[in-house]
Amino acid sequence: MSALSATCPAKINLGLSVLGRRADGYHEIVTLFQAIALFDTLRAENAPSLSLTCDDPALPVDERNLVIRAARALQEERPETRTRGARLRLTKRIPAGGGLGGGSSDAAAALVLLERLWEVSLAPAERQRIAGALGSDVPFFLHGGTALGTGRGEIVHPQPPIPERALVLGFPAFGLNTPEIYAALDAPLTLQDGAVTLSRFYGKLAEGNDFSRITNDLETPAFARRPKLAFFRDALLRAGAEAALLCGSGSSVFGLFSGRDEAEQAAAGAAGWFGDWTVVTAVTVARGVRVEAAG
Ligand code: C5P
Repeated sequence: MSALSATCPAKINLGLSVLGRRADGYHEIVTLFQAIALFDTLRAENAPSLSLTCDDPALPVDERNLVIRAARALQEERPETRTRGARLRLTKRIPAGGGLGGGSSDAAAALVLLERLWEVSLAPAERQRIAGALGSDVPFFLHGGTALGTGRGEIVHPQPPIPERALVLGFPAFGLNTPEIYAALDAPLTLQDGAVTLSRFYGKLAEGNDFSRITNDLETPAFARRPKLAFFRDALLRAGAEAALLCGSGSSVFGLFSGRDEAEQAAAGAAGWFGDWTVVTAVTVARGVRVEAAG
């Protein structure tokens, strides 16, 4: 295999419920993941050693980057690949720190790409386990489309695709710290057993393609820190969004619209009111990471 390229979608959460804090410090959640058409690209070709370059100079390209960590995890699992290298090139379009899973999607892509490049193959359960160890959102991107996430989000239950929806995404200039947002929930929470009921609830919403009742428990601590996030969400609701919500643990906010034209109009309005935010439109997609030969 000479050169390969992967497209790595972003995600939103069509609802996120936190059940409680676990003994390992993570939080038990139920969420409905949805892949969207906003893509990073990761290219890989054989090389004597492992290296990563990225068009965003703000991102580290060493062992702090999940792409490198994914490569190392694969080498750990398949010792015969430890002598292999790869030149990896990452093109970022998904804003970092927005709760859109960009880094997680890139990591899932690195796993699948390097399996192909180094001619090893992991069993699906093995791939899923390695992905989950890299980060709670990484396993979702191996499936993509629409999927329920349980546990800390790493247990993925694929759902039938929902009909395409248009959305507006707003990125503020500030980020939010995921561990801090989760930790702020600690005081009122104990681990409760509501996962089955909540999974059914989200499953039904997806089936009925009606998201008007979705909520995200992480909004309370996020909005307390950054009230502007709530103003942006409310602006999207006033512009006719069926639902508007914080993406994961933030800091971006999305609104769901009935069609692309409605979304474009709402985006133009929001961009006018929130001058220092980046506002874009996107659509949902029924896919995850996809690898093909690079031209
Ligand atoms: O799994 P990941 O590395 O993406 O998680 C980052 C941090 O977010 C964790 O260290 C933890 O503080 C918090 N987290 C959590 N519960 C989850 C997912 C993430 O508390 N379900």
